[in-house]
Amino acid sequence: MTKKSEVILSGIRPTGRLHYGNYFGAVKQFLDLQARGLTCYYFVADYHALTTIKERVDYAQITLDMLRTYVACGLDPKKSIIYRQSDLPATTELALLLGMIANIGFLERGTTYKDTIAKLGVGEAGGAEGNPISYGLLGSPVLMAADILIVRADKVPVGDDQRQHVEMAIDLAQKFNSRFQREVLHIPAAVARDAVRLPGLDGSAKMGKSENNDLGLLDDPKLVLQKIKAVQTATDPGPIEGESNDPDRVIPQMPPSVGALYRLLSLTAPKDVFEDFVGKYRRKEKFYGTLKTTLAEHVNTFNAPIIAAYHSPHNTEATVKEFLVENAKRVTPVALETVESCREAMGIGRSLYRA
Ligand code: TYM
Repeated sequence: MTKKSEVILSGIRPTGRLHYGNYFGAVKQFLDLQARGLTCYYFVADYHALTTIKERVDYAQITLDMLRTYVACGLDPKKSIIYRQSDLPATTELALLLGMIANIGFLERGTTYKDTIAKLGVGEAGGAEGNPISYGLLGSPVLMAADILIVRADKVPVGDDQRQHVEMAIDLAQKFNSRFQREVLHIPAAVARDAVRLPGLDGSAKMGKSENNDLGLLDDPKLVLQKIKAVQTATDPGPIEGESNDPDRVIPQMPPSVGALYRLLSLTAPKDVFEDFVGKYRRKEKFYGTLKTTLAEHVNTFNAPIIAAYHSPHNTEATVKEFLVENAKRVTPVALETVESCREAMGIGRSLYRA
């Protein structure tokens, strides 16, 4: 029997345009795995965007835009299966089934849930109305588990912030299999501990779409320079211990916002340029101005082909809609097979009408 190809799955919420955190945390891995000829499922998690919704947002439009950016980065809908989460309703059916075995206490340990509670500053008891978090947000790791398990993924390329959610998917799959005494769900691998976490331009631990601290993949040169120039570099360089110029050694010794600039430089510029600026830092030269203009140039060189490909006449809303239809057809049979076997394992039985 020939070994089946490794199955990869990952998704991104359409809560804004792709930024460098998304690129280096996720999309770069998507591209490497696609290039290895593996079976890759990449989707836009439009239902996940609804977990904090307050008013109508045109997610359909933002999703199309994000898919054009996927293509502009090099994701190829002929090689990878690229779709919208909402075009695969079997996922929500599986999420419902998994929700039956997900304890509230388990979900309350989810990082997104805990961060949201902390940001609202309400505590889990909430105000007069009780805990204000939506059922959808608390349950979002269950939906994410369904996304992963429905295609029997082996590997889930994500940034560090999603590592715990992948672990929750593994836990749910193991619990399902042991409770219903069948190996119905395939257990994916855990995410490596050294997964990427790109800091925000404000020096905070994570670049994020809603944090107003991101550098966008489609930002034009003027905006790139403006954002980089605005980064706080008021403090004088401090000492850096050790001779090594390895980004993972030197960056943690810098003030966070300066470290964010160096991290981006390490990702977009050649090694000698990075090391040259580490030297300037060690020698405490006056260099922040040139660091910023040099970084902006490298970022713009990195961005330019993506921006050009985003605007290509072969990459339009019409071409995206066309491949979405084709690719939803490719993933649907796989997803239905999983959800049907879960129904069977739980005792509901297979659907009587589904083809
Ligand atoms: P989301 O939309 O917040 O982020 C999408 C991907 O980008 C990565 N990422 C980062 N990586 C490094 N540094 C950063 N600053 C940074 N910011 C974002 C994230 O780790 C992620 O890989 N729940 C998920 C979406 C999702 C999903 C899934 C992912 C839904 N279903 C199934 C994988 C598998 C989310 O909100 O990611």
